[in-house]
Amino acid sequence: MSKALLDVNHVTLKFGGLTALNDVSFTVNEGEILALIGPNGAGKTTCFNVMTGLYQPTNGAVLFNGQRLTGRKPHQITKRGIARTFQSIRLFPEMTALENVLVGADARAKTSVVGALFRFPRHRATPADREFANPFGKFIAPVFGVSRHRREERESRELAMDLLEFVGLERVAGEVARNLSYGHQRRLEIARAMATRPQLLCLDEPAAGFNPAEKAELQELIRRIRDRGHTVLLIEHDMRLVMGVAERIVVLEFGQKIADGDPTSVREDPKVIAAYLGEPDDDDA
Ligand SMILES: Nc1ncnc2c1ncn2[C@@H]1O[C@H](COP(=O)(O)OP(=O)(O)OP(=O)(O)O)[C@@H](O)[C@H]1O
Ligand SMILES: [Mg+2]
Repeated sequence: MSKALLDVNHVTLKFGGLTALNDVSFTVNEGEILALIGPNGAGKTTCFNVMTGLYQPTNGAVLFNGQRLTGRKPHQITKRGIARTFQSIRLFPEMTALENVLVGADARAKTSVVGALFRFPRHRATPADREFANPFGKFIAPVFGVSRHRREERESRELAMDLLEFVGLERVAGEVARNLSYGHQRRLEIARAMATRPQLLCLDEPAAGFNPAEKAELQELIRRIRDRGHTVLLIEHDMRLVMGVAERIVVLEFGQKIADGDPTSVREDPKVIAAYLGEPDDDDA
């Protein structure tokens, strides 16, 4: 029996007069690939925003590993093991691909600030900088500080390079993000999110703007992400991709859950068919 990893429990979120989520409940089980679908404006991204602490629900709660996330800040939720990508790409455009992934790794490391500031090759610190950062370093560093920093940094770099390779970007590790192609930027976002070592990885329309070949590659990548030990929650409009990769599907419409089940039953559900009638196919948009 699979264990419930994330539990969205009767969540309602109102923006003034608009109810973006109306008493929505669903679970994400450990190890599965679950798709969250629905027409534009259905509340999918809002649901991610509630789960990751950007918005607080008006009512209801989100549980992760049985613990309440409601009221926690986004960085606390990251540390607990939820990572996400954004519908519109949010990278650090002037940083290299490797540095962008290191920022993700840093979100989980214990000694983040010193590591991030003083060991990136492009921001190599002077001895004076190091003295400023750690005036007692001379005395205590040999005992705990620096050796732990160095070990964590080395591990972060190894993880970051491994993830760049995993998403197929190892050859552009040293390129600044803004020079990467759109498809590479989307995959870099995934690598950065994975660098936080999430139990649950939430992808918000990762295939937006992709051609069919890129979508097929992404489908394969999502499977490999799960096989690497992450649970995946996927928001996606492309039905071929959703049907090809998701093991279960939750459907939202106007902030309400209208279906929840395996791909075959969801595809044949009259409420789902009605919700999508008149929806432009994203491929044609
Ligand atoms: N910060 C906000 N303030 C006010 N209204 C918001 C806010 N965020 C989202 N909404 C509204 O909530 C509703 C759900 O939006 P949401 O972005 O979650 O939809 P979605 O399902 O992700 O749609 P899409 O497929 O177009 O990305 C929409 O009506 C949207 O306009
Ligand atoms: Mg959205």
